[in-house]
Amino acid sequence: MLEKDIEKILVTNEEIVAISKRLGKQITEDYRDKNPVIIGLLKGCLPFMAELIKHIDIYCQIELMGVQSYHGGTESSGNVKITKDLDVSIENRHVLIAEDIVDTGKTINVVKNLLKYRGALSVEVVTLLDKPSGRTEDFTPKYIGTTIPKEFVVGFGLDYDEFYRNLPYIGVLKPEVYNN
Ligand code: IMP
Repeated sequence: MLEKDIEKILVTNEEIVAISKRLGKQITEDYRDKNPVIIGLLKGCLPFMAELIKHIDIYCQIELMGVQSYHGGTESSGNVKITKDLDVSIENRHVLIAEDIVDTGKTINVVKNLLKYRGALSVEVVTLLDKPSGRTEDFTPKYIGTTIPKEFVVGFGLDYDEFYRNLPYIGVLKPEVYNN
């Protein structure tokens, strides 16, 4: 049903699983004995975080934070709103933020600065997708799944107007979907 709205697939489900395995292995090596807290940014992180943590083989904890930067459209609003805060203290903890996509870099910079201010020992970012051409802030994620061109994508957690998050791959919508 959803597939009829998709113009092309950019990253297949098989590729996402392979990416998650690679990143999970790297994170396992880098965070051995560090007991990190992996913080997913809702809601887009959910499918990627679920896939990624299957491939992380160390003691770690999972937390979620709600942040919103897009408000129904396809352009970043620039306003980052915390819609659900953490339930735990991250003071003296190594933190790894799990994101679906880094575009302008505004969301991640706001969250990173907040967590550092709250006393995290280190704050790094793992993102499924990186869209460096959209960047307005100086920021490079430590762990990047794959780099995509400056296109608005949906699927595997990413939405257009809160829809399409449940697609098992990353795709580009047909232009007529925006015009409806
Ligand atoms: P940034 O603050 O501009 O880096 O945007 C990060 C957030 O914007 C992501 O967590 C997504 O929720 C959203 N976003 C950025 N690019 C896209 C896209 O191509 N499709 C859907 N959501 C996007």
